[in-house]
Order: sequence, then structure tokens, then C-alpha cells
Amino acid sequence: MTNIIEELERRRAGARAGGGERRIASQHAKGKLTARERLSLLLDEDSFEEFDMFVEHRSHDFGMEAQRIPGDGVVTGQGAINGRLVYVFSKDFTVFGGSLSKAHAEKIVKVQEMAMRNGAPVIGLFDAGGARIQEGVDSLAGYADIFLQNVLASGVVPQISVIMGPCAGGDVYSPAITDFIFMVKDTSYMYVTGPDVVKTVINEDVSHEELGGYRVHALKSGVADGAFDNDLEALSQIRRLVDFLPQSNRDRPPVRESFDLPDREEPSLDTLVPSNPNKPYDMRELILKVVDEADFFEISPDFAKNIIVGFARMDGSTVGVVANQPQVLAGVLDIDASRKAARFVRFCDAFNIPLMTFVDVPGFMPGTRQEQGALIKHGAKLLFAYAEATVPKVTVITRKAYGGAFDVMSSKNIRGDFNYAWPTAEIAVMGPKQAVEIIFRADIGDAERLAAREAEYKSHFANPFVAASRGYIDDVIMPHGTRRRLIRALASLRHKKVDNPTKKHDNIPL
Ligand code: HXC
Repeated sequence: MTNIIEELERRRAGARAGGGERRIASQHAKGKLTARERLSLLLDEDSFEEFDMFVEHRSHDFGMEAQRIPGDGVVTGQGAINGRLVYVFSKDFTVFGGSLSKAHAEKIVKVQEMAMRNGAPVIGLFDAGGARIQEGVDSLAGYADIFLQNVLASGVVPQISVIMGPCAGGDVYSPAITDFIFMVKDTSYMYVTGPDVVKTVINEDVSHEELGGYRVHALKSGVADGAFDNDLEALSQIRRLVDFLPQSNRDRPPVRESFDLPDREEPSLDTLVPSNPNKPYDMRELILKVVDEADFFEISPDFAKNIIVGFARMDGSTVGVVANQPQVLAGVLDIDASRKAARFVRFCDAFNIPLMTFVDVPGFMPGTRQEQGALIKHGAKLLFAYAEATVPKVTVITRKAYGGAFDVMSSKNIRGDFNYAWPTAEIAVMGPKQAVEIIFRADIGDAERLAAREAEYKSHFANPFVAASRGYIDDVIMPHGTRRRLIRALASLRHKKVDNPTKKHDNIPL
């Protein structure tokens, strides 16, 4: 018996040693933690239960039979985040560069399947060199097995990917299918083909960072939903995010005791909107003042900043917040803002998270760049996402709600449940100046007459009362009472039930 126990301990120690001291030291020297260190920071103390610690690859090519390291480059298992079950896999760069063999893939598929069966999120930590080159097509098949599970799990359990080192080739498409991708600044990069291939194929010299660093994905491409300074910060923020999420689509969003009074008034909101309609203000201030304890987990804060999306709580329950940001491009809806918000709205709807929308939008972005970039299709994504969403939807128009963007931003006619407006709201087909220049084109040379027309248009439409008189707005509310009204609305919608027509799936404009 003693021998067997010693053997177990010896094997465990072998697996825990990963690629050995030299490679672990090199990992630390690059400012990265090891796969196991990362899991110990991500999960509650002593909650990690490892699976498949002794799994080894089965390759005999290129001398691989002589190089077997238990665990085979990925640490998998289950654990808890603030007491709630999560499934995890963490790529071990010290073992064959974290590269993916068939056995390595099977370990990941096992946790994906368990997560779906048992209804809990999957969190993947990436730090790897892509397909295990020595395994050839077996590695490709292993990737496909993972992608399939990612797709099947989409909308069933939350899936989160954290890129903490290289993430190239086959490794990028699993994160791409998951709900959220986060990166670590300066130590992580993601691309389909690396700098060497880029040089060979298109003769372009580019660094890892320029090709796929966080500045590319968290600021420009929108592939990543955020970037953090280091491993520690990334993992503690993932713990924070998970706290907002339901375990699966079978659950309601979690409720956390709130010490913030539901009827708290915020008098400063009465003066948030400047009297000059062209002057910006910070929509984030409104969000922070309305939600519980100013606790807001923003998604993609550095991409398409003209729209803000993220998770917060109202009277303890998670809500998804979508808000135009007048401070950036006047809060206009362009391609990137539409894509960003549409994906967020669909996540919330898939996971039963009510949507709280704050509107101040001058319309869709005009111009050839936008039209050639398919603004029609991308804008339609957001419209589609809001219209199909059956979760509770509460909306507040703070200022502008012009044109098609009024319709898109969770309007009454696409099944908004509670649509409020502040007294400062202006709900119209377009802004006063543009409107009079079209309908009174003949007056364009006559500045005085045009100004009079503009004033007339303003007094007619630049207010919430026309829309309210038609029932497109349920009530005009005082800004200081916004939190109380929203919480009351959300409480009344707790048992809302709406079914969309039966279909295999919809055909959102991709
Ligand atoms: C096997 C690999 C590996 C791989 C790295 N290693 N990538 N082993 N298969 N894909 C091993 C190295 O041999 C080395 O082993 C150790 O991991 C660390 O690698 P280094 O190169 O020393 O590290 P570093 O200098 O930090 O460079 C990291 C890297 C580089 C940029 C990721 O290793 C690299 O370019 N790897 C190849 C990336 C790639 O082209 N992958 C295939 C993509 S194609 P030792 O023993 O020395 O520690 C693909 C197609 C799938 O994925 C498509 C499916 C849809």
C-alpha cells in the first residue's frame, strides 16, 4: 500500500512539475504565471479538483514517444468562484508550448461536456503555440472537436476566454466562438497566422504585438472584450465578471444582497443633460449613479466607445446595460457600435439577463466608409438583437432619439416593456436643423426664416410629449427618480414570459 501511495505522489509531483524548472523560470521571466498558478488565483481556495492529470499524448512520430509529460500541456478541472461551480482549462506553455495534441483536446472536450450537462460556465486560459506540429491531422481533428463543443455550448453556459500568452492558429477559433475574450496587456497576442507566415505570403514585416496584441484586438478589431495589466489583475476581474452571470440558460441571473436603497434619489441627475443639445456629457456618470453601489463591469470599454455596454445590478439582480455615449462621436451608431451592442444584447437575452437601455443617439453614422463597410447589415444586427430579445427590456431616453436609431434602441414597438423619457428628451425623425433644411429647402437662403422654422420644429418635436401622447413612451420621468422607477419596472417584469415563433433558428444578418 505504502508503495502505491508513494507512486501516486510521485506521479502527481511529476504532473505538477509541468515542463520543468527551467521552463517555469522562463515563463516567470516573461511576466507570466504558470497554468496552475493561474488557476489557484482564479478559483476559491482549495476548490480546484483536477481531471486527467495523468493523460499523456499517444504520438510516436518525431521522437515524441520518448517525450511524455503527464497532463500533456493543459490543466483541466472544476472549481468554484465565490462558491459557484465553474469548469476550467488552463494551457501549460511549459509543456510542448501548450500545443494541442489529440489527448490534450480530449481533456478540454471533457470539461466542456461536463459544463453543459451540469450547467456551469467554462473558463479557458490560453497560452499556447497552436496545433502540436508533431501530431499533424490528429491535432486538427482535436481542434474541431473543441470548436463543436464551443458551438453547442453557446447560449447554454457562459464561455469565457482569457488570452495570457501566445494564441495562434487553431487556438484562436475556440475563443472566437466563446462569449467573452479578455487579454493581458503586453504578454498576450492572438492571430490566425503569425509574423513569419505574413512575411512569406505578403512580404510584410510585422511584430507579434502589431499583428495581434491587445491594442489591435481590444481597441481596433473588437475581437477582445477588454485587456488587463497582468495575469493577477485579469484573473481577479474574471472572478468579478462571473459574479454577475447566471450559471447557465436554465438559471436566473444571480441575486446578491444590495446595501444600496432601491428608492435612492440622485438629484444631480436633474442637471446632467446640458441645456445646449450639442454639448456632450458623460453617460457613464448616469450609469454609475443609477446602478447598485456604482458597480459596473464594462465590456469592451476601449472599442467603439460611442456605445457603452456592461453588467451591473439593480436591487441586487444582474442587468445588462446598453447606453449611447454622447461624449464620443455624439453617441452615434456606427458599424462598430452596432456590432458591439448587438452581441451584448444577444448574450443577455440568451442568459435571461434583463436589458436596461439609456438612449441619447443622433442617428446612424453617415458616410461612404460606413456604407461601404455594410452599416446597413451591422446596424440591422442591433435592431434584430433587440427585437428578438424576450428578456425584460426597460429604456430611458435622456436626450436625442432620432430616426432609425430611435427604433433600434429598444423602442416600444420592438417590444420594449417600459419606455421612459426624461423631460429633456427629443424624439424625432432627425435633428431640427437637418429637418428644416429638407422640408423647407426653398428657405435655405433666408437665414431668418430658416431659424424661425427651426424654432417651430424644435417646439413641436424636440420634446418627449409627442411620443408620450401616442403611447410610444410610457411616462416622462424626473431624472432624479430614475433608479426607483427602473427598479420598480424590473420588479414587475420578473415573471415576464414571451415566446418567439417556433423555428429552427433565426437568420440574423451576419
Ligand atoms: C509543438 C511547440 C509548438 C507547436 C511551440 N512548441 N509551439 N511544440 N507544436 N505548435 C514548443 C517549442 O518547440 C519549445 O519547446 C516550446 O514549445 C516553447 O517554444 P518557443 O518557440 O521556444 O517559445 P517562444 O520563443 O516564446 O515562441 C512561442 C511561439 C512559437 C511564438 C508560440 O513557439 C511558435 O511560433 N510556435 C509555432 C506556432 C505555430 O505555427 N503553430 C501552429 C499553428 S497552425 P522546448 O522543448 O524547446 O521548450 C495551427 C493550425 C490549426 O494551429 C488549425 C485548426 C483549425
